[in-house]
Amino acid sequence: EAAEKGGYEHFMLKEIHEQPKAVRDTLASRIAKDNSAVVLEELSWTEEYVNSFSKIFIVACGTAYHAGLVGKYYIERLARIPVEVDIASEFRYRQPIIDDNTLCIVVSQSGETSDTMAAMKEAKRLGAKTLAVTNVVGSSIAREADQVIYTMAGPEIAVASTKAYTTQLIVMFLLGAYMAGLRGTVAPRRMKELLGKLREIPSQISETLEDVEPIKVFAKKYGFNTDVFFIGRALDYEVALEGSLKLKEISYIHAEAYAAGELKHGTLALITTGVPVVALATQKSVYEKTLSNIKEVKARDAVVIGIAAEGDTELTKYADHVIFVPNTDELLIPLLAVLPLQLLSYYTAITRGADVDKPRNLAKSVTVE
Ligand code: G6P
Repeated sequence: EAAEKGGYEHFMLKEIHEQPKAVRDTLASRIAKDNSAVVLEELSWTEEYVNSFSKIFIVACGTAYHAGLVGKYYIERLARIPVEVDIASEFRYRQPIIDDNTLCIVVSQSGETSDTMAAMKEAKRLGAKTLAVTNVVGSSIAREADQVIYTMAGPEIAVASTKAYTTQLIVMFLLGAYMAGLRGTVAPRRMKELLGKLREIPSQISETLEDVEPIKVFAKKYGFNTDVFFIGRALDYEVALEGSLKLKEISYIHAEAYAAGELKHGTLALITTGVPVVALATQKSVYEKTLSNIKEVKARDAVVIGIAAEGDTELTKYADHVIFVPNTDELLIPLLAVLPLQLLSYYTAITRGADVDKPRNLAKSVTVE
């Protein structure tokens, strides 16, 4: 097993550091040389086919569900098709409105999760076209779906998903841009700009992962707190959800993610002196609003650990600590912003002496409903 860990102490840490390669492999040959379009040979869809979708459902569990939430953002923003995201174990019990103009995208690292499989079968029964986004070639979900796009993350062993998540985000982005290309909903110049920036993501991931020392310090300093909050707006909120799940899964700390603007409707009551709040502020379009939410928690003497894009000179004025990630388009920055959160949960679990790769009560793949 030590050999399989490639010199890392745990599979999770190894998999975190494999992300530049996993993302590069997932992107490989899927962007046209001149960055003008996304190429998904496995789909070969036409404009008519994409335009026939009146609605898209994205259905998944756990981390894959969080990737789906980002996927909704990508598809709606780029391709302008309405998307709903559902937790697989809820989906088929709520009588979803589906017909043959519906596309159901299921996201599953393992391709074996029972709830996700059952949800896909239900969507199929009601007439939806099905598309699986999975990491395992020939998995049950890959075989059952009408079409498949593979994430090229390589085997993921640690229960807490890391490289599967980032590669799922990549596929969701590619899918959004692919559909946008067919529908003409993104201007050619903007498409080139986005795909050019997408190509830089693997090396920006490497750069982000080099800076682990401050995260180890936070893990030691705050690792024994009983509660941690994560806040953010827009895509920062979706990343906050994933960051809080990671912390719960492996460090057993009670972690909650809140849309920053929703704090004042209840959660603010829980923010007291010394409570750590991880505040993501990478989304430029809602930056000022996020900042005012950060001021709200600071006014209650919370300890704020900010996550910001390089070049941000404001956040340091209000946060106790700031972790910077390289700058890129706000649509792509979740791919970088999630990395310090993965590392924070890893080093927090280490501080607490938890079994990182095999957390209590959890399984890598849940094949019972
Ligand atoms: C389990 C794992 C999670 C994973 C979820 C969905 O709960 O512990 O890490 O996100 O299943 O798994 P899937 O293989 O369908 O992505």
